[in-house]
Amino acid sequence: MITMNAAVFVGPNEPLELRELTIPSEPGPQEVLVRLAASGVCHSDLHALDGDWETPAPLVLGHEGAGVVVAVGSEVTGLEADDHVILSWTPSCQKCEFCVSGRPVLCQLANETAYQHVFFDGKPRLRDGDEDVRSFLAVGSFGEYAMVPASAAIKIRRDAPLAQAALVGCAVTTGIGAVTNTAGVEPGSTVLVVGCGGVGLNVVQGARLAGAKQIIVADVSAEKLELGRTFGATHTINSREVDLVETVMALTDGRGVDYAFEAIGLPFTIEACYEAIRRGGTAVVVGQVADGVKISIDPFVMSDQEKRLIGSNYGSSRQSIDFPKIIDLYMEGRVDLDSMVTDRIPLSGVNEAFAEMRKGRGIRTVIEYDA
Ligand SMILES: NC(=O)c1ccc[n+]([C@@H]2O[C@H](COP(=O)([O-])OP(=O)(O)OC[C@H]3O[C@@H](n4cnc5c(N)ncnc54)[C@H](O)[C@@H]3O)[C@@H](O)[C@H]2O)c1
Ligand SMILES: [Zn+2]
Ligand SMILES: [Zn+2]
Repeated sequence: MITMNAAVFVGPNEPLELRELTIPSEPGPQEVLVRLAASGVCHSDLHALDGDWETPAPLVLGHEGAGVVVAVGSEVTGLEADDHVILSWTPSCQKCEFCVSGRPVLCQLANETAYQHVFFDGKPRLRDGDEDVRSFLAVGSFGEYAMVPASAAIKIRRDAPLAQAALVGCAVTTGIGAVTNTAGVEPGSTVLVVGCGGVGLNVVQGARLAGAKQIIVADVSAEKLELGRTFGATHTINSREVDLVETVMALTDGRGVDYAFEAIGLPFTIEACYEAIRRGGTAVVVGQVADGVKISIDPFVMSDQEKRLIGSNYGSSRQSIDFPKIIDLYMEGRVDLDSMVTDRIPLSGVNEAFAEMRKGRGIRTVIEYDA
């Protein structure tokens, strides 16, 4: 057993508690023990903390992590101690129809286990004395160590800084992948991105990489809109000051955009994205709403104008391909991860990081662990 510090979710709207937990020092046959170097703080963690999503307690939050392999299970191939890895929050069984057809983010087994914050055998790996502690999405990156299924530890090159790499574990892959994998945005497209947080700014980066000719961003924060410009936006809309859909129409000669991405998780901004697309256009839901929230759209318009409304989970990524590819693009200077890291904190500062996120400040706070 290894003793480790972790930030534990004890119930909605309660601060995370810093506790000493134990984790096995020997991974199971198909598992990997990782010492975390860094973890981003994502709005999905905040959804759990705010009680937007029913989440069992006690549980170690955090799902945007990178670190160094400590030990691998007896059946694990292609990974060894000291390898640098980014953690994936959709482990894949590599056997179900979704995994076999190249859509690991839809893995049946992950849906039944990791999305309940337990491992493929249905059990947690962490303990607080005699009590079991779950790991958020079978990652739990707000802890010094994580045990993950082998398919959730993706090896990356050793020269990439792990604080920036951690963000590839969620926001970056989610945002870029929504554009390149889910929507398949073509060069010359017009794109709207609603919400310029960690995820939305990566949608902007993805649209720039895909060669979009017009990238319109909308947010209620002037600071976030300015950041949108630095990541590649051509036009900004402060949707607190002007009507979002009317302004998009004015910027596109009344036509609407080819693609709209919602990266907040609110029903009215999802509806606005759908209204802002052209005939035959595609609206992509990336932001995640609180449990039970519904949207309202006009199905006559949907059929009459062949509008498409689609969802994107984890940027429809195949993590073993997408993570190293994005890291290469970063190392070549074509994807900006440095500007995404707006604060670096020790684990003990995690509750303040959520307070800043609630105020809409910064892009990503990164927890750094002692290496
Ligand atoms: N689909 C996926 O796989 C996936 C993965 C990760 C995160 N998410 C979800 O994406 C969403 C965004 O996550 P994030 O980490 O970027 O959050 P964030 O808090 O960093 O960013 C949210 C942004 O939305 C803006 N905003 C808030 N209310 C607004 C409004 N009414 N109009 C316009 N802008 C508004 C904020 O100013 C902020 O810039 C969350 O719902 C999160 O759960 C989805
Ligand atoms: Zn996330
Ligand atoms: Zn599967």
